[in-house]
Amino acid sequence: MLRRPLLKLADSDRVRHLVTTTPVSRGVVDRFVPGEETSDAVRASAELVATGRTVTLDFLGEDTTDEAQASATVDAYLDVLEGLHAAGLTGSVEVSVKLSAVGQALPDRGDKVALENARTICAAARRRGTTVTLDMEDHSTTDATLRTLRELRKDYPETGAVLQAYLRRTETDCRDLAVEGSRVRLCKGAYEEPERVAFQTRQEVDLSYVRCLKVLMNGAGYPMVASHDPRMVAIAGELARAAGRAQGSFEYQMLYGVRPDEQRRLADSGETVRVYVPYGQEWYGYLMRRLAERPSNVAFFLRSLATTG
Ligand code: FDA
Repeated sequence: MLRRPLLKLADSDRVRHLVTTTPVSRGVVDRFVPGEETSDAVRASAELVATGRTVTLDFLGEDTTDEAQASATVDAYLDVLEGLHAAGLTGSVEVSVKLSAVGQALPDRGDKVALENARTICAAARRRGTTVTLDMEDHSTTDATLRTLRELRKDYPETGAVLQAYLRRTETDCRDLAVEGSRVRLCKGAYEEPERVAFQTRQEVDLSYVRCLKVLMNGAGYPMVASHDPRMVAIAGELARAAGRAQGSFEYQMLYGVRPDEQRRLADSGETVRVYVPYGQEWYGYLMRRLAERPSNVAFFLRSLATTG
């Protein structure tokens, strides 16, 4: 199993240094991260929108350790929202925000700082005609993130949530959130979690994903099916039909650079497809999580490192 060691590498400073200073890794990074600047994010969004897909942009940055860094992240979001608006893209492009990047982990006042910062981004997104979705991080933050979501939705009910099927609690959370106007992204979950809170086998996680999808598809909200798994994609389509949902009353979501042909196939068949596009300088942890998910990505990555010589 490669997943665990790769998730550990995501925390290794030595490996981070090697990867970020080896020129060739840029090519590998580009497959999953279109660039570091606002202009890169806007360009990648325009390209995706031109092919019939919609986008959610994630400014990469986790483990924010002080308020100045959290403010800089907020500024980055304001900047990209401005850029999207200027390019006429806010009808098709929204943003995803990690609360840890806007201050959630700061001592004492973390939740308050994160709420205020997220509110600033939601207000800017609303002014520009688009929305925000709050990414979900490891299980120790789930309650705080859902509390913040509830607060934000008082003023910005369009704010999207993310739930992770690997958590044992998630079916119940789906029931709570499957209400009118509620946008809910369902993913399997990307963090290393203990058995106490999370299903451990692929089969258990997949079964949970299907149970959660049923709740969301039969509820009154707007399900966002975030998975590259062909089985989950097919089941989502079946459940949507069984629930009498028309195309456009739910959407598929996939990551930038992952199964692009399938993204286009779904979009060409009239489905709403949203591509999650991360950008920014802090791409290392994100890249390691993607590699951990798929051994062929690791082989691709190691081959390109080896051929740099
Ligand atoms: P999984 O990894 O279980 O793979 C199942 C099958 O899918 C594979 O056997 C293969 O057939 C196919 N597949 C998967 N990857 C492929 C690839 N690279 N190429 C070809 N086929 C592939 N997580 C989180 O904890 N919090 C969050 O906020 C988010 N947000 C988020 C947004 C979006 C839009 C997506 C798509 C994902 C997330 N995630 C996330 C990540 C998510 O939790 C999960 O780690 C990954 O999506 C991997 O799970 P899958 O369901 O895609 O398939």
